[in-house]
Amino acid sequence: MRFIPHSVSRSSFLLAVMVLFACGAAMAQGPTYKLGRAPTDAEVKAWDHAVGPEGKELPDGSGSAVEGAKLFGTKCSFCHGRNGEGVFPWPKLTGGVGTLNTPNPIRTSGSYLPYATTIWDFINRAMPRDAEGTLSPSDVYALTAFILFKSAIIKDTDVMDKKTLVEVKMPNRDGFFPAIPQAKADKDHSWLPFWDQVKEMRKEDKAFGGN
Ligand code: HEC
Repeated sequence: MRFIPHSVSRSSFLLAVMVLFACGAAMAQGPTYKLGRAPTDAEVKAWDHAVGPEGKELPDGSGSAVEGAKLFGTKCSFCHGRNGEGVFPWPKLTGGVGTLNTPNPIRTSGSYLPYATTIWDFINRAMPRDAEGTLSPSDVYALTAFILFKSAIIKDTDVMDKKTLVEVKMPNRDGFFPAIPQAKADKDHSWLPFWDQVKEMRKEDKAFGGN
């Protein structure tokens, strides 16, 4: 009997769904049905503003934690607490630095994310919840600075802008490593590649001080 790992069947399902969507997208612009149109450059720009680790997409503007504290108090503390400690059931944003490889890891924007630009991008795109898109670039720099300051990563007077934000070294920058490649199944498929991966992961864990 051949084993089929769960992950394989799940990924083929996902693939099928993606192919369906791809067909839908192609049809919407296809000549056959004369439906839809290609988005204009302005429309793509309004939507496509993801900010990567190099921060090339970051706009002008600046702010420090001193300014961010005021904004955070009025627009964010209701859900995230005065210092970003979180108000149940909303997430903690600050603290937890150095806890990720302990028995009680605390995952926050400060402790987990490898790049500070991701905090900027997330706030800019999705916060404050229910009033997304209302913050100016400088507001977002100030709020990002506040979260970094409250996680003890920068000083409260450090000004964040498109240059300095990229230079911030997040505490978990080196905590990510590439996924272990899928091991090959035995000739007779008598074991699942997954188990081998778990073994490898344990080894990696030990190397990183885990148990
Ligand atoms: C109404 C509640 C609410 C308000 C107000 C709010 N947030 Fe959030 N925030 C959330 C929720 C819920 C999440 C979890 C992600 C999601 O579901 O979008 C989140 C996630 C985040 C994250 C990512 C956390 C992570 O590491 O995954 C950041 C950063 C953040 N918020 C910043 C802010 C800032 C800055 C403000 C103020 C401008 C703000 N939020 C206002 C509810 C809120």
